[in-house]
Amino acid sequence: MIIGLFGGSGQLGRALQRDLAPLGEVLAPTRLQLDLSDVAAVQQWLQQNRCDLLVNAAAMTQVDVAETSVELAMQLNQYFVQQLAEYAAAHNIWLVHFSTDYVFDGSGEIPWCETDECRPLQIYGRSKRAGELAIQASGCQHLLIRTSWLYDSQGQNFLLTMLRLARQSTAPLKIVSDQIGAPTYAPQLSAVVQQMLQQLLQMPPHQATTLSGIYHLCATGYCSWLEFATAIFAQAKAKGLLHECQVIAAISSSELARPAARPKNSRLNTDKVQTTFNLQLTGWQQQLAQCLDLLKNSAKTGK
Ligand SMILES: NC(=O)c1ccc[n+]([C@@H]2O[C@H](COP(=O)([O-])OP(=O)(O)OC[C@H]3O[C@@H](n4cnc5c(N)ncnc54)[C@H](OP(=O)(O)O)[C@@H]3O)[C@@H](O)[C@H]2O)c1
Repeated sequence: MIIGLFGGSGQLGRALQRDLAPLGEVLAPTRLQLDLSDVAAVQQWLQQNRCDLLVNAAAMTQVDVAETSVELAMQLNQYFVQQLAEYAAAHNIWLVHFSTDYVFDGSGEIPWCETDECRPLQIYGRSKRAGELAIQASGCQHLLIRTSWLYDSQGQNFLLTMLRLARQSTAPLKIVSDQIGAPTYAPQLSAVVQQMLQQLLQMPPHQATTLSGIYHLCATGYCSWLEFATAIFAQAKAKGLLHECQVIAAISSSELARPAARPKNSRLNTDKVQTTFNLQLTGWQQQLAQCLDLLKNSAKTGK
């Protein structure tokens, strides 16, 4: 089986490159090899490589930049996704795609279900929602996986920013306490996606088709960014990655003026994915420990 993986250099894409390898031959073009905003180049790549499965971990993910780079956000998060979905529909192959808690407006305190109404607050969320709608309109078989608050041991993310700031400064860090979600470690998400795909690919096609749809998939449990930062510092100190726990001051979203609004309630209800695929997801604290253990080992070995 030939698997086309897009965004293979990103937080999630790196983990997927490893986890998809046992399922088939993974073709993961880099940005230099294929600019995903180039419609003609993407079409040519798809025609030349004849994949049996498409997995899209690529996106324009810079939420604040998207406010002023609307076209780029739409190109990657809507039109490119539409192109993949139409190809998948025409060739009767599955498309695995990732979306976000930012498709919701963050109202209320109840975890969002897959069927809840989407009302994104910013361009990024609108562009991701447009991608979701394009997949549904194409009629392709899809796993459309909405996740939240992704991080990894490399790249740019909240966890690594916190560790860097804690090492650089002794002044209290101001962290938002009124946004609630589930921080999700990209390799954990990728491992679950591998399990889902393994199950799908073993089923008779008519049975697999019935599982096509949207799934919420993130770590279990919820916290605020403030609680996440507190846990990062406590665990990092316990593991010897930090000498001292950084002092933190709670602030509200409105005090942290950013170009794009963020949803306050980013909780995702993961019952559907757990029941459908008979999976047990792990908690956010456990996922954090796993990531920090990796950082600790890399610090020891210098890798
Ligand atoms: N990050 C989060 O907190 C979060 C939360 C919820 C959902 N999600 C969703 O989860 C998925 C994975 O997110 P992530 O954090 O892993 O993303 P990421 O680390 O920002 O990676 C994005 C990937 O897309 C590639 N890409 C972007 N524009 C491209 C272009 N024009 N041509 C070729 N490649 C391009 C990047 O390539 P380069 O390395 O060359 O830039 C990179 O491989 C996305 O669908 C995202 O919307 C993310």
